[in-house]
Amino acid sequence: MYYPEELVEEVRERNDIVDVIGGYVRLKRSGANYIGLCPFHNEKSPSFSVSGTKQMYYCFGCGAGGNVFTFLMEYENYSFVEALKALADRAGIQLPEREYSDEARRQADRKSRLLEVNKEAGRYYYYQLKSDRGAAAWQYLAGRGLTDKTIAHFGLGYAGKSGNELYQYLKGKGYPDELLMQSGLIATDEKRGAFDKFWNRVMFPIMDVNNRVIGFGGRVMGDGMPKYLNSPETMIFDKSRNLYGLNFAKQKSRDYILLCEGYMDVIALHQAGFTNAVASLGTAFTGLQASLLSRYVKEVYLTYDSDEAGIRAALRAIPILREAGLTAKVINMKPYKDPDEFIKALGAEEFGKRIQEATGSFYFEIDVLKEQFNMEDPEEKTRFFNEVAKKLLVFTEELERNNYIEAVAKRYQVGFDQLRRLVNRYGAMQSVGGLLDREARKENRKKDKAAEGILTSQKLLLTWLAEDNGLFERIRGILGPKDFTEGFFREMAEMVFGQYESGGRVQPAGLISRFENKEEQVQAAEMFSARLDEELSDAGKEKALLETVYRIKKNSLDIERRRAAEAGDGQALQKIIIEQANLQKLHISLKNG
Ligand code: CTP
Ligand code: MN
Repeated sequence: MYYPEELVEEVRERNDIVDVIGGYVRLKRSGANYIGLCPFHNEKSPSFSVSGTKQMYYCFGCGAGGNVFTFLMEYENYSFVEALKALADRAGIQLPEREYSDEARRQADRKSRLLEVNKEAGRYYYYQLKSDRGAAAWQYLAGRGLTDKTIAHFGLGYAGKSGNELYQYLKGKGYPDELLMQSGLIATDEKRGAFDKFWNRVMFPIMDVNNRVIGFGGRVMGDGMPKYLNSPETMIFDKSRNLYGLNFAKQKSRDYILLCEGYMDVIALHQAGFTNAVASLGTAFTGLQASLLSRYVKEVYLTYDSDEAGIRAALRAIPILREAGLTAKVINMKPYKDPDEFIKALGAEEFGKRIQEATGSFYFEIDVLKEQFNMEDPEEKTRFFNEVAKKLLVFTEELERNNYIEAVAKRYQVGFDQLRRLVNRYGAMQSVGGLLDREARKENRKKDKAAEGILTSQKLLLTWLAEDNGLFERIRGILGPKDFTEGFFREMAEMVFGQYESGGRVQPAGLISRFENKEEQVQAAEMFSARLDEELSDAGKEKALLETVYRIKKNSLDIERRRAAEAGDGQALQKIIIEQANLQKLHISLKNG
């Protein structure tokens, strides 16, 4: 962090979170908190809660949460420092100028230096594109229908022909070779020494959701090979967890996202007004990307190429989206290859119609399946319906399954009862086959549930400690940070206990801004936003507290005991057994008392 913690705290305290969020979201008082419709996902009834006492927000629907900094980072796509500046401005606090000395640079961590290198490179490429040397590249992009505004919006650029000009430029800015190699933009070999990875290509900077350049794609201007070249994965560039265009697409609450294959598709769609388009980064769509999308929308429209490869890619993406709780539809772009070509040929309005006509992912799967069978041949037709029946088993809810059976029966002209009988037959077969591993699965589920329960207890206790600092004295000597077993929980517990020990007061919102990374801030906010499923009386709350303390302690002793046993440490084991017995006694007396 570049700014001292006290200053960060001052800025935070002078910006009441209820006021700040109230400027973006209509908030209503509800008990001790305020609630409203979450701006980070689509919802009809409010699950977004803002606490004035904790100076935090948390959405029980999508899990978004944090302090006033997190909110601006999330809502405005700000980096931490940008959020800090905006709020300092708002409160009339003057921030000291940041020093850009070599020393400060050396001290900043590697990731932010790699981000700097990428940002500089992006600027350089953009500047080249606008210069005379980039005239051909500019013409190429203009020839593909991109306006000057679009080119600037996406920060497109040009990597020149000389072979090492980016290297020379970045070197001149003082970046050391080692860092430049790590950025993936510069490579080296014995003959040439250091040279640029991208040569004579139009450049597409790839940004994360916070508008930071994390890598590049470069396209040849014409028919050379390979058509696209991408930055390799680096410390800041993980192709499986980022999506091209999401920094723009995520901005407002959306009904759905358009997922396409290429950079040019995203750009063409945005230019045509479909600013909710994103694409994966030259690799297959992943579960991480699906869960990233599920933070913003419930529905994804696949706009993949209409060729064989595009259909296969869609078939792979559909179950991944389903797994992340997203519904998928598939847009038909025939007779054009991809959205870029479609829009160029038929325009935005026609594309809008194709969105309206998109096929539900289940029917899409079946339509593709149908292609493999000759429906004129009775035997093949029977086989087709057998396959369909098997597929219908993905719907585990009876009502939903029946609805689909009905719809499929109508769509493919087969009797409803006939199809349902088939489905039931496969369902029965599946259950016999599943009987054996069902037992195993049950066992696993039990274990998962128990582990999850412990984490919930740890979260509850952290929340309660933050809400009622008096609890620290009550659990003193019984329970400490080391009883929090999972990495991040332990880290939070240490911070919470530390803050209490040093000042007698815990300020969760202050702890959250110790993390500069938004994902960590969200996780930290979650630790302070646990709640029980039901409203409890005071006596009930007291009981829940004792039970929670007991469960956390018991779990941590169990783990210690296993560890001691494995290490063959008899002495430690002895001590733990005594502690366990004491805890048991304490538990019984608390229960009865
Ligand atoms: N891609 C890649 N490497 C290649 C070819 C493609 O990484 N050699 C990735 C790029 O991310 C590209 C996407 O796959 O954007 C889709 O590729 P393709 O359909 O071939 O290209 P288009 O997006 O249609 O590109 P263009 O319109 O520029 O031909
Ligand atoms: Mn294309």
